[in-house]
Amino acid sequence: MNETVGKPIDRVDGRLKVTGGATYSAEFDIKNMVHGVAVLSTITKGRIKNINTSIAEKSPGVVGVMTYKNSMQLHFPSSSDPGGGKFAEKDLLPLQNDRVFYDGQIIAVVMAETFEQAEHASTLIKVDYQIEDPNFDLEKNLAKAYKPASGLGGAEVQIKRGNADDALKTASVKIEQTYTTPVYHHNAMEPHATIALWQGETLLIYDATQSVAGVKSLMSSMLGVPKEKVRVVSYYIGGGFGSKGFSWPNTVLAAMSAKQVGRPVKLVLSRQQMFTTAGRRSQTIQKIALGAAQNGKLSAIKHDTTVESSFVDEFVETAGVATTMLYSSPNLDVSHSLVRLNKVTPCPMRAPGEAPGTYALEVAMDELAYQSKVDPVQLRLINYAEEEEQKHKKFSSKNLRECYQRGADMIEWGKRNPQPGSMREGKYLVGYGMATATYPANRSASSAKAVLFADGHVEIMCATQDIGTGTYTVMTQAAADALGLPMEKVIVKLGDSEYPKGANSGGSQVTASVGPAIRAASLGLVSKIVKMAVADAKSPLHGQKEPDIVAQNGGIYLRSKPETGEQYTDILKRQGLQDLQAQAATKVSTRQQTEANPATAGSAEAEIEKESKSNQAVQQDEKLDRKPFSFHSFGAHFVKVLVDPDLGTVRVEKVVGVMDIGTVMNLKTATNQIMGGMIFGIGMALMEETHYDPNRGRPVTRDLANYLVPVNADMPDFQIEFINKPDTIISPIGARGIGEIGITGITAAINNAIYHATGKRIRNLPVTPDKLL
Ligand code: MOS
Repeated sequence: MNETVGKPIDRVDGRLKVTGGATYSAEFDIKNMVHGVAVLSTITKGRIKNINTSIAEKSPGVVGVMTYKNSMQLHFPSSSDPGGGKFAEKDLLPLQNDRVFYDGQIIAVVMAETFEQAEHASTLIKVDYQIEDPNFDLEKNLAKAYKPASGLGGAEVQIKRGNADDALKTASVKIEQTYTTPVYHHNAMEPHATIALWQGETLLIYDATQSVAGVKSLMSSMLGVPKEKVRVVSYYIGGGFGSKGFSWPNTVLAAMSAKQVGRPVKLVLSRQQMFTTAGRRSQTIQKIALGAAQNGKLSAIKHDTTVESSFVDEFVETAGVATTMLYSSPNLDVSHSLVRLNKVTPCPMRAPGEAPGTYALEVAMDELAYQSKVDPVQLRLINYAEEEEQKHKKFSSKNLRECYQRGADMIEWGKRNPQPGSMREGKYLVGYGMATATYPANRSASSAKAVLFADGHVEIMCATQDIGTGTYTVMTQAAADALGLPMEKVIVKLGDSEYPKGANSGGSQVTASVGPAIRAASLGLVSKIVKMAVADAKSPLHGQKEPDIVAQNGGIYLRSKPETGEQYTDILKRQGLQDLQAQAATKVSTRQQTEANPATAGSAEAEIEKESKSNQAVQQDEKLDRKPFSFHSFGAHFVKVLVDPDLGTVRVEKVVGVMDIGTVMNLKTATNQIMGGMIFGIGMALMEETHYDPNRGRPVTRDLANYLVPVNADMPDFQIEFINKPDTIISPIGARGIGEIGITGITAAINNAIYHATGKRIRNLPVTPDKLL
């Protein structure tokens, strides 16, 4: 074990990606394929009185036009869990009726021989609307706010302990402020893209998705096709950030239109279209009240969040949830309110809840530090949560003190003059700020298959997917170590719903969920080979005991006498086997929702479960009682900014991050993940914002020229380190997820540094020069 895990290994698919050899969902060359283009509504609320498609239908190359008048009828989806398949807007199945709930809703699909022909014909569709009065402004509709019963997967969103209002009345130091964040759009490099292909009653879908298994279930239930007749493929994904976690209309529309015209259909959303057809992050208004003793010890925390949802589904941006566990406080009151608006439904976006939530909380903590004259790092140590106080659970592993300590050393925190506006470099104002990072450590049920071939290579299969973060690479490392093989001898196959079901790529859970399943399948395979060898009189291991034998150097050898043993290839050859396979399913889940339904007898899932009963790795993993534990990752960000006092521009000069995420599987991809989160944080702090037309509720920033994101010239000096202590409770591989924690806290750290530099506290993101001057 541990030959490759932890090392900064290059991506196994890196060469394919940079040479164009990695085929993304829109890039399959399918014979006889037509191109679909979506047509969007141009009103914000109302009904389609008449939709005239006759001119478009006669346009050159057009093969068909699909509207609510001629589209097939869809069934309501049976699941609302992302792992099982969640349609993004449950009450707006596409093209089922004449109603319009927001500007930019898909109202037709035009199919033509070429993309250009479809695009042209889509401009020839004439629509008469019956217009109704919309509501699209959060601030103007606050009176309509209501308290949702729960968040995604039934998560609690109204949470109390003690009496925060009473405690605030007697607190020596008080902070009461409102923090806001605007609407954000995910803007993954790869657009939402689908190719749908019917072969008789069987549907093959190439789809840019964070859940091949989920889309398979969803298409089966929405289209009324048996599950075994739907296959979903997503080999390479150009980022998702949550926008490809739920299924948006493009996927089912591709399947519907392919059925209608009897030919394969490719449907790719444009960058502009994705601003209204593929989710977004809700605007947030967050009121925070902190009460503390003079020494900074918290007695009360209140965090009231108001966010948007739509008229066609309910999604809560759970900004207050991290507040319930991040600091010790006897009194706490966290609430969430929703306002329904005529806009596309918000959905998870990188660190949903935690990203805007830790921004508000960690700026409020900085304000408390200044008001109580306690150093910001010290304030966090004074209020350190030794356990998860809301649930009275121990953390599976928490090394946050070390993160603060190491980060403070790296940025030389002790050398800063805490007085705001006191530090300069040339004409620039210098500021240092810090904040805590945290994200839940999720793990959910996953399964995998491992197949050894006669030439000695092993293939691993799992219906999870690599959204671009390095899953192929990290899983190759995990399997190679368990099998005692070099990485070149292991091929990991993901992104195909035909494989054993793996976790969806959401909630930063894939490594922690799929890693143990792949390890267990690999060890199950080794165990089968060992059993063959010890029972075989011709093997040098004949008569030995299984626990004395280990997988290493391409075969199995005695632990105490590593020269005694044999290669996998020799064993298969002697047994006359072309291949040998093992499958394993681990049902461990740290998530609130229970997503694992019992497998139907005789199904592939039932077979895997049966085999798992004799898999020692699975049995050991599953027997650990995880109920007493709370699973979270932690970290600390430290930032240095330079502010130009004449122009009000902010340059993030240095970002230090120290993360406690359990075992680091691959130092290079892990560092990439945290760096990516920090870059998102720079965007949130300084530039990102979707603007809407105040008269129509239509996004006016709808391309990357107007929706500003940090570019290479904006990059600071990054210094990223890991505590790298295995979390032995979450799984035998010790790794917690790392996808989203990097964006938590970072926006606050930048904001706090700007305050330190200038003495100005900007509570409405982004901090643009006009606000700072
Ligand atoms: Mo991620 S925003 O949990 O898909």
